[in-house]
Amino acid sequence: MLRSLSKHLSDRGPHMAERVQVERSQDGTDNLFEAIYSQRAIRRFKPDPVPDEVLLAILEAATKAPSGSNTQAWAFLIVQDAEKRAAMAGFLRSAFEGDAEFQERFAKVDEIEDPSQRRMLQGARGLLLALDKAPVLLVPCLHHAESPAPQGLLAGSSIYGAIQNLQLAARAHGLGTVLTTFQRSFEVELRDLLGIPDEARPVALIPLGYPDGWFGPTNRNPIESVVHWDAWGNQPGG
Ligand SMILES: Cc1cc2nc3c(=O)[nH]c(=O)nc-3n(C[C@H](O)[C@H](O)[C@H](O)COP(=O)(O)O)c2cc1C
Repeated sequence: MLRSLSKHLSDRGPHMAERVQVERSQDGTDNLFEAIYSQRAIRRFKPDPVPDEVLLAILEAATKAPSGSNTQAWAFLIVQDAEKRAAMAGFLRSAFEGDAEFQERFAKVDEIEDPSQRRMLQGARGLLLALDKAPVLLVPCLHHAESPAPQGLLAGSSIYGAIQNLQLAARAHGLGTVLTTFQRSFEVELRDLLGIPDEARPVALIPLGYPDGWFGPTNRNPIESVVHWDAWGNQPGG
């Protein structure tokens, strides 16, 4: 449910937009700002399958994103097959079970005092150890990854906008997602399992499903602290 707070006007007067506040919900929404403000990382999913036409609608929304020279250098693998999801979950689990840094990072998660931090890391650990609880695993790939540059920071810049569209469109349909880079820890096995050719590069692994949890407000730094007006450092109220 979306509520507009009373108009918050700063010294900058007309530059300040109305502030938006959202409440916890599991429902879809066709309100763009409610979707943006409540699309948070969902790491626990109901087992319910997601209709193919909904998946296609979400991925079509992804492809409405801009790309360098409109090259649309992307492809999206949808993995629903239970055996393949189980195989991916197994590869991920093996990669992390033998990883000392991971073991150390997650060893004391249950003792973290801050409840939101504790829940986040418990969710992240749960997802790492049981990835296939998500009924759908999406693997966006840069395809002919020359747009706008083959290497460096710009290499992925033509696909992450599409991924953001994907996550928002999923939110609109009442579906949760979380962007992960899990694919990096078992890319060789993943390529083999899904037949990904050399000219495609998996850039993320996104579990998707109906949330076993809530969409809702996210924790972000205040806008005044990240905006600079006309010159770096000019941050009234920041
Ligand atoms: C590039 C990138 C990589 C991420 N990798 C992971 C990941 O490996 N595992 C995970 O659980 N979440 C991952 N996330 C999700 C972030 O943890 C999440 O977006 C962030 O904590 C904000 O969460 P919120 O939107 O629920 O507030 C990643 C997000 C991004 C943008």
